[in-house]
Amino acid sequence: MGKVLVMEHPLIQHKVGIIRRKEVGSKDFREIISEIAMYMCYEATRDLKLQDVEIETPICKTTVKELAGKKLAVVPILRAGLGMVEGMLTMIPAAKVGHIGLYRDPDTLEPVEYYCKLPADCGEREVFVVDPMLATGGSCVAAIQMLKDKGVKNIRFMCIIAAPEGVKKLQEAHPDVDVYIGALDEKLNDHGYIVPGLGDAGDRIFGTK
Ligand code: URA
Repeated sequence: MGKVLVMEHPLIQHKVGIIRRKEVGSKDFREIISEIAMYMCYEATRDLKLQDVEIETPICKTTVKELAGKKLAVVPILRAGLGMVEGMLTMIPAAKVGHIGLYRDPDTLEPVEYYCKLPADCGEREVFVVDPMLATGGSCVAAIQMLKDKGVKNIRFMCIIAAPEGVKKLQEAHPDVDVYIGALDEKLNDHGYIVPGLGDAGDRIFGTK
């Protein structure tokens, strides 16, 4: 079973507390989402593999560490996931970025892919799927399945706020995926919003309300 890690870092908790406030406008909301993604990325990359390499400093030869293992990719789920990309790339600038977009078919209620563009070598990369809100888990589970169907094998999921219902659904569907969460909230309401949550993350990032 993949791990579920709720980030307890004080800076993350403090910043999540700020963006929950309804009076915070799009500019600040967007900036802070990006900062949180940056701190979360730092925590979620703690276990990346290192290897020894011999180098020469201006003084002498020595051995230093460098990142080894798989290269990285970030895949935001459109549209709110876009808000986390810049923060992720601040920490891992060499990562490639894919995009995945889904909508829910009004008749079948099944998620349907409307956009997917991934790095060509995505199957060889460690892929961080990002979406600020893990609510019912429907789109996250479907997005990860689509990535697996396209040959992606190593997937981690990162969200800023999660509902227990979404975490359960994700773990049941994709037990191999590690899940990184900024704050685990109480529940979903009847409209599928996370409580207490922060409202609609996409609308707040892009000012579309
Ligand atoms: N998506 C959001 O943006 N907010 C929620 O509370 C749930 C899903």
